[in-house]
Amino acid sequence: MIPTTLELTADPNGIARAADLLRQGLLVAFPTETVYGLGGDARDGEAVARIYEAKGRPSFNPLIAHVASVEAAQRFVQWSDQAERLANAFWPGPLTLVLPLKPGHGVSSLVTAGLDTLAVRVPAHPTARALLAAVDGPVAAPSANPSGQISPTTATHVHAGLGGRIAAVLDDGPCGVGLESTIVGLTGEPSLLRPGGVALEKIETVLNTRLHLHKAGDMLTAPGQLQSHYAPDAPVRLNAETVQGDEVLLGFGPVICDMNLSETSSLTEAAANLFAALHSLNKTGRPIAISPIPDHGLGAAINDRLRRAAAPRDS
Ligand code: TXA
Ligand code: MG
Repeated sequence: MIPTTLELTADPNGIARAADLLRQGLLVAFPTETVYGLGGDARDGEAVARIYEAKGRPSFNPLIAHVASVEAAQRFVQWSDQAERLANAFWPGPLTLVLPLKPGHGVSSLVTAGLDTLAVRVPAHPTARALLAAVDGPVAAPSANPSGQISPTTATHVHAGLGGRIAAVLDDGPCGVGLESTIVGLTGEPSLLRPGGVALEKIETVLNTRLHLHKAGDMLTAPGQLQSHYAPDAPVRLNAETVQGDEVLLGFGPVICDMNLSETSSLTEAAANLFAALHSLNKTGRPIAISPIPDHGLGAAINDRLRRAAAPRDS
């Protein structure tokens, strides 16, 4: 138990301090362009165990290793032509690649949950990049929220969920993309393991092939894609045209509502606002109704998160 969580500013001093804490095996939440990540040294089993502990996360759910560059990624995974094409097109950025581990990789088996593959990503956020360069090693980082709850897109969200449980938060304002990275599996036929910040259509264009789509409940290809996830405390109802009873309406497009994801129907803007809107409506304590969101481009990732937020809860 850590009594106070340090608030670090994202300047050279704060970043150096954060890197020190990570090297000591402690946990630091840091901004990425997608959501805030809860970082721990991926080579240090105890640090990774602290991540699972702080989040209350089921241990069968493996973590993404964040690295500073393509070269750094290649130290840990077996590279391929398809990985090269996707990295050229989308790194640094909101794309995670799952690739076979290399012998002698040195990554804790708690990161991979014992799989022989590793999820790697080079984030684009300048503070994340500076931190990874300073640490000079892979940083395991799930979203910095208690397991099953809404992902954090501000340092305030991180404090609300994990304050007192982690060493520090590196604060650099709200995240630009607002949705987690897209995860593509490249261990067999290329497959979409999680929709996210890079639209499926763009990935298919670069690979010049269709991706296999992950089937719900297929735990073999995408461990940890839990049905109920990103869940506010209140019930969530999707595709709502009007409100019922005591509901608050989270709108999209030109609708009368309590809060709007994007009045101009921009999916990019809606993605960036999604988790902050859920955090804030959750505080009203009222059930949440949500307008229909188109299912193309980033809309597919938004709808994936919303279906999980609305799914029946595990007790
Ligand atoms: O945008 C993001 O990806 C954020 C930021 C912090 O980078 N991170 C994030 O991590 O969303 P997390 O732990 O919340 O989600 C990681 C997902 C899980 O669904 C997990 O099952 C999947 O990645 N995953 C990790 N390693 C995998 C592997 N070897 N094979 C298949 N899926 C894997
Ligand atoms: Mg998460």
